[in-house]
Amino acid sequence: MKKLVVLTGAGISAESGISTFRDGNGLWQNHRIEEVASPLAWENNQQLVLDFYNQRRKQLFEVEPNNGHKWLVKLEEKFDVQIITQNVDDLHERAGSSNVLHLHGELKKVRSTKNSNIIYTLNHWELKQGDKCELGSQLRPHIVWFGESVPMIEMAIPIVTSADILIVVGTSMVVYPAAGLINFVANNIPVYYIDPNANKIKNISNLTIIAEKAGTGVPKLVSQLLSNQR
Ligand code: OAD
Repeated sequence: MKKLVVLTGAGISAESGISTFRDGNGLWQNHRIEEVASPLAWENNQQLVLDFYNQRRKQLFEVEPNNGHKWLVKLEEKFDVQIITQNVDDLHERAGSSNVLHLHGELKKVRSTKNSNIIYTLNHWELKQGDKCELGSQLRPHIVWFGESVPMIEMAIPIVTSADILIVVGTSMVVYPAAGLINFVANNIPVYYIDPNANKIKNISNLTIIAEKAGTGVPKLVSQLLSNQR
């Protein structure tokens, strides 16, 4: 089976009702990153950070995967599919994708502030001050904040290197190291970029831009790839 890797960003979840970060009215228009998504923010105002992620988590319990997530699952009929997502939602998993790697953490998980390997899954939306891990330290969102390292990038690089086909969906490709993953694709493999605002990606020769929303662009591309693959 050919290896098909999909790199997704906030745009794939937009039609489920989750805001992107940098579009008009995006999350970073309405919140200052350094006040809600950085280690300093956590030091200065834990409640503000908890409130920000509690709101995101609450919303996640209310939304559903859309056609973009669902059609990516169909690729598994004929390809060895690996999804690498910058998203912290679980909509790929809920749509049924088997292999999902989260680069920037997961909203429904929380972790110890004393030992980052102690991670729990929340089955409710609210993380409070005073909620502690088994070592007795405050729990924090299991999210990669600005200024923190992205440990999962080490797993993502060899996956991208081994791709026979790469699909990029709904990302502005401006946040590193995630955006740099594209530089690890093998020479001349087909790369598809589905995003209404997609721009050319430097140094990618075999690039097809599909300037559409995920909800229509993904089904079209998936149908085409499945019918070409006997
Ligand atoms: P951005 O908000 O930067 O970009 C979202 C992209 O989705 C844009 O290129 C839009 O054109 C596109 N888009 C909007 N609606 C779409 C739709 N219906 N279908 C397809 N595409 C659509 O979000 P990301 O690139 O995901 O990190 O941002 C990367 C990281 O920056 C996030 O993971 C987050 C953020 O700060 C952390 O919080 C660590």
